[in-house]
Amino acid sequence: MPMRKLDLINERIMEIPTLPVVAQRIMDLLNSEMADYGKVARLIEQDPALAVKILKVANSSFYATISGVSTIEHAMAILGGDEVCNILTSFSVYNFFRDKESANFDRRYFWQHAIVTSQVAKYLAAYSKLPDESIFLSGLIHDVGKIVLDYYFHDEFAEILAYVIKHQVPFSVAEKEIIGVTHYQVAAKLLQRWKFPDRVIRHVFYHHAPWHDQTYTEGSIVIYLANLLAKIAGYSSLKEERPTDLSLLTDAKLLRFLAANGFDLDEKKLNIIMANIRQFIEREKDNVLLLFAE
Ligand SMILES: [Fe+2]
Ligand SMILES: [Fe+2]
Repeated sequence: MPMRKLDLINERIMEIPTLPVVAQRIMDLLNSEMADYGKVARLIEQDPALAVKILKVANSSFYATISGVSTIEHAMAILGGDEVCNILTSFSVYNFFRDKESANFDRRYFWQHAIVTSQVAKYLAAYSKLPDESIFLSGLIHDVGKIVLDYYFHDEFAEILAYVIKHQVPFSVAEKEIIGVTHYQVAAKLLQRWKFPDRVIRHVFYHHAPWHDQTYTEGSIVIYLANLLAKIAGYSSLKEERPTDLSLLTDAKLLRFLAANGFDLDEKKLNIIMANIRQFIEREKDNVLLLFAE
């Protein structure tokens, strides 16, 4: 791709507005070593819409051990500070892109894929006994670069969609062919600008090639697998995308890499995980929708 195009893309990304102040400040707190949850609670209380959202989640059946959570501090005690921060950030990113509708890239499929991926990622983190650090957030925003491309490079993205459908290839293949930059590169650039934690940026950047991530490999593997398993479960970001099945994950070299990083999988285990995931999605659907419902 001519260099000028890449410059143009970088320039446009730098022009994308920042997230709302509250989200930005929460991000700063998240990035600091000793996150002060008292401060987070006070920030949340200043934004009634966010506060209501958090209370709704804290009172959902998924978390509620006791009913009637009515203060943010109580909610933080139940959900945990990290989870509250992740929920708020997810909500801010979702809100930021929600109104950027498009005629040729159906957002319903996009968000459904994103939400299911985030749920599967949570499941996989628990399954592999990994600390659940920002996994939900990474899963939710892993493909956000597609929306950035669709919104800020609409004509080129229309060509990318047409290419994906016509040749039945992954997005990144079409993206490289048409504009020379992929959705994960674009997303990483934006998340850097938005000062997201390094961990999340890497999960997103490596979600199609976790073997290149030397730092947060396990998390990147979780997002990589979650993305594929969400597609296998029937939740792709584009309806006309080539269907995927488990055979994609039974490559010997891939299985060796996964095993070396603590994900000891084979066809039998994958089938069991897949069955569990289908049940898990069914069960969690309402909870997650609660977060994104009006
Ligand atoms: Fe992707
Ligand atoms: Fe994806």
